[in-house]
Amino acid sequence: MPLDKWSAVDDYINASVVRPDEALEAALRATAEAGMPPIAVSAAQGKLLAILARMIGATRVLEIGTLGAYSTIWLARALPAASAGGKLISLEIDPKHADVARKNLVNAGVDATAEVRVGPALETLPALQSEGPFDMTFIDADKVNIPAYFDWAVKLGRPGSIIVVDNVVRDGKLIDESTTDPNVEGVRRLHEALSSDGRVTATTIQTVGSKGYDGFTVALVNPAGNPAG
Ligand code: SAH
Ligand code: DHB
Ligand code: MG
Repeated sequence: MPLDKWSAVDDYINASVVRPDEALEAALRATAEAGMPPIAVSAAQGKLLAILARMIGATRVLEIGTLGAYSTIWLARALPAASAGGKLISLEIDPKHADVARKNLVNAGVDATAEVRVGPALETLPALQSEGPFDMTFIDADKVNIPAYFDWAVKLGRPGSIIVVDNVVRDGKLIDESTTDPNVEGVRRLHEALSSDGRVTATTIQTVGSKGYDGFTVALVNPAGNPAG
């Protein structure tokens, strides 16, 4: 089925159940106007992230890969107010993206909850050890380092934390054994690691929609010493 059909169905879903508001739409517009790529999660995916956060009663969330803070806004809104412990830290390598993101967070009224930290995530992650544990981590930055980000997310989590990894199916390239694309190698190494990772219980869901054919991995951190699949 073609992308235009998937997009039309996403439009229908957005107009009926998802209903993104003006601040979310404005964040996407500001991102495009700044010349940044149109690679934020879809509205339906953003709302799923928010629902997952609320389902686990998340107060502390970590995001790796901010862009214009579209997914950040969805997630920040799912948290309690900052005064009640709500806290989202989003890691972004590009200072220009971080600038746009911060303005979008202010415009959405979630800048007290959500904070953007600039730098390569592998360099900013170690400092977060004193700020966890994080109830949820959303991994959505460069794809090469996905396995390393996943390891950090487990370390910075606790039993019951959840980890969501975006863009793991990549038009089906996930199963291309002869790939030399480092991004695809990243998602393949994640799956290889998950095949014997007793720290988490995980699944991968394939998706179609306005963002094409892709998918995401969802993992639940197991109780210590009690691998559950
Ligand atoms: N989560 C966003 C989209 C993120 S796009 C949303 O759905 O709205 C991926 C982002 O990761 C880009 O802004 C890119 O600059 C950033 N990025 C790429 N490599 C990175 C790295 N090594 N560390 C931190 N951020 C990185
Ligand atoms: C790319 C990155 C993403 O996070 C995404 O959702 C889609 C595409 C990319 O780097 O091409
Ligand atoms: Mg993504």
